[in-house]
Amino acid sequence: MKNSAFALLSALSFSMAAQAQVAPAILSEHHAMLRVENQKKYLLLPVEEKQENAHIRIVRDNQLVGTINCRLAIDKVDYYVPYETRDGELFDIAFAANSRATGSIKGFTCWNKMKYADEFTEKVSDKFRPAYHHTPGHGWMNDPNGMFYKDGRWHLCYQWNPYASYWENMTWGHSSSADLIHWTPEPTALVPDALGTIFSGSAVVDKTGSAGFGKDAIVLMYTSARERQTQSMAYSTDGGKTFTKYAGNPILTADIPDFRDPKMFWNADAHCWNLILASGQEMWIYSSANLREWKFESAFGHGYGNHGGVWECPDLMKMKVEGSDEEKWMLICNINPGGPFGGSATQYFIGSFDGHEFKCESAPGVTKWMDYGKDHYATVTFDNAPSGRHVAMAWMSNWQYANQVPTLQFRSANTIARDLGLYSYNGATYCSVKPAVEMDAARGAEIASPAARCEIVVTLKGDARITLKNRLGERVTMTYDEAEGTFDMDRRRSGNVGFSDAFPCVTSAPTHGRLRQLRLFIDHSSIEAFDADGRMAMTNLVFPSEPYSRIEIKGKAKAKIYAID
Ligand code: FRU
Repeated sequence: MKNSAFALLSALSFSMAAQAQVAPAILSEHHAMLRVENQKKYLLLPVEEKQENAHIRIVRDNQLVGTINCRLAIDKVDYYVPYETRDGELFDIAFAANSRATGSIKGFTCWNKMKYADEFTEKVSDKFRPAYHHTPGHGWMNDPNGMFYKDGRWHLCYQWNPYASYWENMTWGHSSSADLIHWTPEPTALVPDALGTIFSGSAVVDKTGSAGFGKDAIVLMYTSARERQTQSMAYSTDGGKTFTKYAGNPILTADIPDFRDPKMFWNADAHCWNLILASGQEMWIYSSANLREWKFESAFGHGYGNHGGVWECPDLMKMKVEGSDEEKWMLICNINPGGPFGGSATQYFIGSFDGHEFKCESAPGVTKWMDYGKDHYATVTFDNAPSGRHVAMAWMSNWQYANQVPTLQFRSANTIARDLGLYSYNGATYCSVKPAVEMDAARGAEIASPAARCEIVVTLKGDARITLKNRLGERVTMTYDEAEGTFDMDRRRSGNVGFSDAFPCVTSAPTHGRLRQLRLFIDHSSIEAFDADGRMAMTNLVFPSEPYSRIEIKGKAKAKIYAID
């Protein structure tokens, strides 16, 4: 096989500089072909983020088998991404027409720097890479997708670009974990196909085999995205190791541009599957007996809550109101832009749901936010979580600057997992958000001062100002005002804040009662603040030049700091 690859290669090759690592055939000033050798496991593609995407058509046996958009290096290499080689593949590469301004295509850096290798180092150390939060080994990540719990493991798929650290080539990456803290990479779950790239969606454990793929099959539903968005299905019969796309895709279509992010769940009260998906600025609800054929039931949203942007990534679940036997439904609606501090955020509605229609109990004008930070988006929950828990994770970034944050080999982490519930306050019902109980087990020894990764537990008896600082004077200041009932976090001098005008900010949350204990989770480039009683959550990214190593407290408060191992 190697020999024939070499023969083809030389037939295609053009006279290249002696040091060239690969030999493309140049067809025009923005078009080249490259025979991909299969001598090593990977072809490492050099990326230069400031360039425009080159469009790579992957041809195997004269057939188009995939496409990749990648900013191949023209002047310099920012980082590499691995392409797994297979026998007899040809890259047909079209550079953006204006990339010629940088010099002849023959002189592009990518030809010299592309290299074959058997190894690729995932999780390259980066001072901003979180230790106990989920991150992709390399590449870009946005929304958590297809989350389910089965046989003692939490499965988390995610919107992933395997070919660079900016949004492109949407694919479902996949990781799993026994404790929601240590994540193991799993084989890629879903790759783009003729129906489109793979946008967000959900998973269910089909215990009865209602979809026809057998008992306990994992069924995924996701958005296939091209000029229009349709819903497709995939399934796994090996416990979620590998997924097969359903041959009858797409299974749901509509004539509107924004129609995506299907979230399925079994409705035990109505004895049917329900599906909720985002449709412009509404959430559409469907029902089904078999997960394949869906009946439209109703639309929710017109006039309700915040409409400052597109509604995305919904979820719908029934929960008990703390301290009572009453159960209510909560509809999660991520919105971008329109968040309380600009850009992306998660709003929710409380009400009733009978399998057909969601009725919100608040007045239309009321908006409730799940997290009052700036970096909490695309929140959805795991299917089939043990003990009836509602365990959520959110993408820890904001579309205003997610593509610009100062990390390179990876971009974006997910929040720590959170246990959701409901509580009453002043005659209304709200969502309570607490760190998942698994975080208690992650608490290590008490330490004297803050570290790059730690939990700080602050006990409060009134107003307090808590400042985290490093030796360079970079700081984050948190202020609790008991009379006002507010908690603020100021990251304007937190370190590198200059990559986007939308980044420096003060976020402010209502505390809905007295704040008695605050739990702060620090992990290299994020601070998640929780009221231990679940009445307030705030998630913010920070990019300090070195970790915050000092804590200063003014007011009626005391802190204990714990290592997180
Ligand atoms: C939300 C979102 C989804 C979409 C996905 C695409 O962040 O815009 O609505 O499915 O990202 O990556």
